[in-house]
Parts: sequence; structure tokens; C-alpha cells
Amino acid sequence: MMSSLDELLIERRSIRTYGPETPPEAWIEQMINLAAQAPSSGNTQPVRFIRVNSPEVKASLQRAMKSGREQFLQAAAGCSKPKNLRNWINAYYRFSAFMFQAPVLIAVGTVAPASGFSRRLAEAGVIEADKKRESDTDIAVGFALQSFILKGQELGLGSCILTAPLVFISRIEELLGVRDVEIKCFLTVGFPGETPRKPKKKGVADIYRQI
Ligand SMILES: Cc1cc2nc3c(=O)[nH]c(=O)nc-3n(C[C@H](O)[C@H](O)[C@H](O)COP(=O)(O)O)c2cc1C
Repeated sequence: MMSSLDELLIERRSIRTYGPETPPEAWIEQMINLAAQAPSSGNTQPVRFIRVNSPEVKASLQRAMKSGREQFLQAAAGCSKPKNLRNWINAYYRFSAFMFQAPVLIAVGTVAPASGFSRRLAEAGVIEADKKRESDTDIAVGFALQSFILKGQELGLGSCILTAPLVFISRIEELLGVRDVEIKCFLTVGFPGETPRKPKKKGVADIYRQI
């Protein structure tokens, strides 16, 4: 018997095509509220959601993405297998560009935690650098995203996490006008306009071992 949690987790798909309606703001806030309950290292709660509504900001992101693609295509022309690389660049461009058609576009990032165990040790010179900080914040982003996405799914919304745009767009924080947040990914949300087939997933024996 599948529980409702099992069903949400198993049936969730990344949705890249959306219906025209914009989800109610109250739903987005419910999703953000659950994201805020996620665990984080030392309860630092570093994750921030920045919804991008401004057509001007979207247009500047889109311009930056296009010029990133042009630069990559030009650089790829000088490589040993230019056609392969060109296909990859164009595929990842498609995996990025749909975000501008989504009813809701959110940039997700982290703020530097004010304190934290490894930061204190690094500041005191006990350890060299604060190596743990980056992975701690990334893990916190993953948890927050999972809660956000699953609540959306329960409400009948589809979503997709995107990191490919970060490869195309440089100085993304500057374009978004955020100083204190390091952007980790984009997130699109809307009513699903497609029912993708489930991609092959590994089984327990593939990803679990006991030592
Ligand atoms: C960290 C991360 C980055 C991703 N980046 C992109 C992206 O840039 N563009 C995209 O279309 N999908 C992206 N995805 C979605 C994955 O392609 C998707 O999760 C994977 O193919 C499995 O499909 P499923 O989510 O339907 O199970 C990303 C997912 C994760 C977790």
C-alpha cells in the first residue's frame, strides 16, 4: 500500500510546460512556509526565495542567457568536436529558456550564516578554510526545495529546479539586484501543461550498501 507521501514522492515529475493561469499567491506562500520548516545546519536557515515578476529583470536575464549561449557557441567552434559541443549547448539552452514562459519564476539562494561551528573554527585559525559551509548551505537548499515542491504537487502544481541558467548567465546576483544572496538555482512553478513519462530511477540495491 502506497501512503500519500509515497505517492507524492513517486509521482512527482519535473514540469517544464505550464498552463496559462498563475497559481494563487496564497498557495506560493503555503509552499514557502513549509520550505521555512526545513532542517539546516545549526538552524541557520540560510535559504531565500526571490520571486522574479519584473518584466525588465526577466528581459535582462534572457539577454544575458542569449549572449552566454553565443559566447559558448563561438568558443565551441574552435574545439575538436564542435558539433557535439554545439548540440550540448543548445540542449542546455532549451533546458534553461523555458523558465521565461513559466507563470512563476523564483531565484533560490542562500545568505552567509552569521555564525556556525566551522566558521568559528576558521575565524579562530583552527582550521584552514570554512569548507563545510558551502555543502551545508547546499544541503539546506535541497531540503527547502523538496518541501516547496512537494507541497506544490499536493496542491496540483508542477515545478522544475533549474541550474543550467547559472552556466549561461554570469553575474546573476547583479542582474537580480541582490547583494546578500548567493543564487543557487531557479525554480519554475505553474499548473502542469504536460505529463512527462517517469525517467528510469535507480533501485535500492543500486544506491544502498552496508559496510
Ligand atoms: C540540482 C538540479 C538542477 C536541475 N537543473 C535543471 C535545469 O537546469 N533544467 C531542467 O530542465 N531541469 C533541471 N533539473 C531537473 C532534472 O532534469 C530532473 O529532476 C531529472 O531529469 C529527473 O526527472 P524528474 O524530476 O521528473 O524525476 C534539475 C534538477 C536538480 C535537482
